[in-house]
Amino acid sequence: MLEGKKLLLVISGGIAAYKCLELIRRLRERGADVRCVLTGAGERFVTPLSVATVTGQRVFRDLFSPTDENEIGHIELAREADLVLVAPATANILAKMTAGIADDLATAVLLATDKPVMAAPAMNGRMWEHPATRANVARLAERGVQFVGPEEGEMAEAGEWGPGRMTEPADILTAVETFFAGAGRLQGRRAIVTSGPTYEAIDPVRYIANRSSGKQGHAIAGALARLGAETTLVSGPTRLPDPLGVRVINVEAARDMLAACKGALPADVAVLVAAVADWRVAEPAKRKIKKDSTKGAPVLKLVENPDILAKLSADNAGRPALVVGFAAETGSVVEKAKRKRLTKGCDWIVANDVASGTFGAESNTVHLVTAEGVEDWPPMAKSTVAQRLADRIADALEGVPARPTP
Ligand code: CTP
Repeated sequence: MLEGKKLLLVISGGIAAYKCLELIRRLRERGADVRCVLTGAGERFVTPLSVATVTGQRVFRDLFSPTDENEIGHIELAREADLVLVAPATANILAKMTAGIADDLATAVLLATDKPVMAAPAMNGRMWEHPATRANVARLAERGVQFVGPEEGEMAEAGEWGPGRMTEPADILTAVETFFAGAGRLQGRRAIVTSGPTYEAIDPVRYIANRSSGKQGHAIAGALARLGAETTLVSGPTRLPDPLGVRVINVEAARDMLAACKGALPADVAVLVAAVADWRVAEPAKRKIKKDSTKGAPVLKLVENPDILAKLSADNAGRPALVVGFAAETGSVVEKAKRKRLTKGCDWIVANDVASGTFGAESNTVHLVTAEGVEDWPPMAKSTVAQRLADRIADALEGVPARPTP
């Protein structure tokens, strides 16, 4: 049921816009309050009058309308909703959302909102598969936009078949209901997530690093936040945008990451995804090391870094109720992960095989290793791994008393 839930539906200009009338009807049947923003192109496919009739409310269309802005400004419109749903989401509106363009009411609302955003793309298959759209969708997903579809099927263009059909209203409704059923499951909980690589200084300009992109860790932080957890993401250097609704602490070296994690305690759950450098240079040079062929190449003395996962797992006073580690392995993945779970003292290990180009990729094949056994998850997008893990965390914390507030 969606009783009392406020939805803001942004209808952009695709042939699938006509399906929105049915979507609105179904959402309202479940008790949702639906307000609509119609783009100029959207109006070509569905009339403001029909949208107003099915929503039982006026339709918002113009960023510069003096009456609209007097009664309810675009900022208020953006913030009053519990969920902003973009359906259909055309390639054009996805591109504008990615770039932060706000040249009409719909895009201004999408830029101004601090609420979760769900998008149901609809476009020609070639447009969906174009590298520009692929990149935009990946970027938006990283920022926490949830995608429903598109589906494969016949295109509006006669004889064309492919991915790009908007998901049917009944399935969009299910996605919305699932979203609200999940939202709030981690309300009142605190989570710490580490992500990305660490940089260990050699001298003021050089460092030791690794190939971690941070995609999986950032996605997990976003997914926990979407379930309502107060989430702190302690991140090494990445090129990723901050996930929506997450407090981000940027660090470089392992020791700073450990200090930031300790500072973020107490927490109910810690998910340590970062690819922390195992070693650092014992004494980084204060000045840039100059090349001197008479002396030969410098020799770096390495010392071991603190193991953040082991330390948080062993922290008697501050140990989160659930500590989850990741294991990046090449070969015998599950066996190594089982051993790692015991030696590091954490509750779960999410194991993945990094031999096959996981770093920087969009998808991941993982195994969840717990005290109860091993679950092999099928290959899936990193964002789906994140969502599924966040759900499992919410299950595990059910009935566990929340840690004392700081
Ligand atoms: N980890 C950590 N601090 C470290 C090293 C690793 O918190 N100094 C965490 C990672 O975030 C991950 C888990 O430990 O959750 C496993 O990291 P991984 O690099 O796979 O294992 P290592 O302990 O480094 O062991 P090895 O490299 O020998 O496999």
